[in-house]
Amino acid sequence: MRVIIYTGKGGVGKTSVAAATALRAAAKGHRTVIISTDAAHSLSDSLEFQLSGKVTQIAKNLDGIEVDIQYELENRWKEIQAYLSDFLASQGMDAVTAKEMAVFPGMELMSALFYIEEFHKEKRYDVVVMDTAPTADTLRLLAFPDTANWYFDRLFHMLRNVIRVARATVGKFMSTPLPTDKFLKDIESLKERLAYVKDLLSDPEVTSVRLVINPEKMVISETQRAYTYLCLYGYTVESVIVNRVVPEDYAGQYFDIKLQEQRKYMAAIDEAFSPLKMLKANLMPREVLGRKALDKLADEIFGDGDPTEVYSRESPMGMYDEDGASVLALKLPFPMNQKLELYTRKDDLMVQLGAFKKSITLPHSMTNKKILGAAMDDGWLRIRFEGEEHGKGKARKRGRGRTAPRKTS
Ligand SMILES: Nc1ncnc2c1ncn2[C@@H]1O[C@H](COP(=O)(O)OP(=O)(O)OP(=O)(O)O)[C@@H](O)[C@H]1O
Ligand SMILES: [Mg+2]
Repeated sequence: MRVIIYTGKGGVGKTSVAAATALRAAAKGHRTVIISTDAAHSLSDSLEFQLSGKVTQIAKNLDGIEVDIQYELENRWKEIQAYLSDFLASQGMDAVTAKEMAVFPGMELMSALFYIEEFHKEKRYDVVVMDTAPTADTLRLLAFPDTANWYFDRLFHMLRNVIRVARATVGKFMSTPLPTDKFLKDIESLKERLAYVKDLLSDPEVTSVRLVINPEKMVISETQRAYTYLCLYGYTVESVIVNRVVPEDYAGQYFDIKLQEQRKYMAAIDEAFSPLKMLKANLMPREVLGRKALDKLADEIFGDGDPTEVYSRESPMGMYDEDGASVLALKLPFPMNQKLELYTRKDDLMVQLGAFKKSITLPHSMTNKKILGAAMDDGWLRIRFEGEEHGKGKARKRGRGRTAPRKTS
């Protein structure tokens, strides 16, 4: 199963390009489903076909769904939400607020990811096309499998306390509801399911992220940042779709200025995103609505090609040995002005770039090893760890304090 995720700044044409891709994939005979994770669902408008929170057939080989949090709450999260709201109410919160609060952060994001998991397990589709919300929200969605673990660990901790307190107060007044076995099992399976999705999303054979942009400075800048973060999270960014390109044969002085500006930005795009595969679509004379218009958009972008082709399989992370050191290489395509901090914590390497943080679980060969240094070269951040022969003993002998976070610039 292929998963193709379209992301980009607001209004660049993500929904249109995703819908065009899904229609074309279905026409080529792939069993296709398009999922919208944008709460401001405009996929129905684009396709001129009313979708809902349930999988609905749009055309031959093509289904669609607009993830709907209300529907998800009633179907997927009932048990968990019911317990959490009882729990919060038992702590003195009024019932309505407790119910609202029991919608924990990320439930809707997780629902979208679970569709991917389910479709993969059921072998129901050949292609999943994702139409996402503008960049910031989508980065949250894609970082979710990482951050969710943190949340679940906290939740488990809290529940363990509830059970401990309950045992200590046997026979006394006890108003806190105890989590049922089913509830605890549900929570536990969430972690496993997220790990399953994470594996799919970080497999370049399965998942490709495609950046949709326009030849405009603000769009290019925002998307460059997103590109770096996506690499940090371990996604394979595989291509760029430059949408709304003004055709060079546009007549008239007004558009001459636009064309001049555009040439400058097309050169900037080449510089910024090469060697990513680049696909283009012209600015259409009319809004792109309905299947006929979307089909035309697909012609522009893919020609006769198959939109499900994997354009790149390069993983944004690699590990190798060099001159006695173990090297972890992370693709960070843009040397950015923000401070980059690296430090190790237990078995994890923490990479912090501006407000974004990523933890990478290190392989055994790199745990308990000192970071010797890090350097950017050719779009890759290469972090060098003390190699095997320097041995664990040596690192330990330095004692406490010396293993504290070590910063590299
Ligand atoms: N190549 C194009 N030529 C002309 N109009 C286009 C083109 N691509 C998209 N549009 C139009 O631009 C508008 C925005 O497109 P779309 O909804 O696909 O963008 P989006 O990136 O999904 O927006 P949002 O960030 O709000 O989800 C729509 O009215 C769409 O029909
Ligand atoms: Mg959209």
